Amino acid sequence: MEMQLAAATANAFANDYQTFEVDPGISYPCFRSFDEFLDVDWLRSLDGPITERIVQEIQTEKGDYFRNLYRLSSDTPYQPGVREVWLSRTDSTAPSEYLDMVDSTDLWHLTDKARDYPELMEFIRTLPFERTGRMLIIYDNVGNEVPAHRDHMEPDVCNEFIWFRTNLRKPFYMLNAVTGEKKYVDSYSCWFDAVNQYHGTDACPGLSFSIRVDGIFTDGFRRSIPRPVTNAASTPALWACVDNNEQ
Ligand SMILES: [Fe+2]
Repeated sequence: MEMQLAAATANAFANDYQTFEVDPGISYPCFRSFDEFLDVDWLRSLDGPITERIVQEIQTEKGDYFRNLYRLSSDTPYQPGVREVWLSRTDSTAPSEYLDMVDSTDLWHLTDKARDYPELMEFIRTLPFERTGRMLIIYDNVGNEVPAHRDHMEPDVCNEFIWFRTNLRKPFYMLNAVTGEKKYVDSYSCWFDAVNQYHGTDACPGLSFSIRVDGIFTDGFRRSIPRPVTNAASTPALWACVDNNEQ
């Protein structure tokens, strides 16, 4: 879609509203549910064990902080207080730039933490990935939000990942920053355009969490994905919109 730069620049935001051309037929906000591609009943059954382990984590060591670089608003924090459990890590010699490493699967190895979540790791092995790279749990239990942000600013880079969760508590949304329209994710899993649209999480009471696995999808799975003519980062958006138009 064509975003309206004139309207956007009237607001004083941290990002410059830089927008990139996308195929006709794509409109934001949107996400592609992946519930049909994974075993949702199995995923839901993991809620107890994962919750229990995160609660232990909170009581003992607490995870790293989530960091939020490409935020929509300069008033929002770079480090909003939300925590992470890293199930895989790169070693110290690997590139530190996000795009150089997030789905460079050879760079990643399982952490000791992964042993604390055996049921989750078993589930991850059933996802349609040829190889996996970064894997992490993002959680909060003290009412922090994740301010609206994008993950990076490279429209030619399509990161293949699955975002998923064991319960629907986390108020996770996609945002069209021009119209202000928010679309809350109502599925247990999805893939979304994290470059051409903003996304974030509202504050909510109690413990909420989600899991993100980046990697390389299997060839068979890739063949089922419609590809945009321009802007590879918009691939999940195109898929979402094609599906919406067919309904
Ligand atoms: Fe993000």
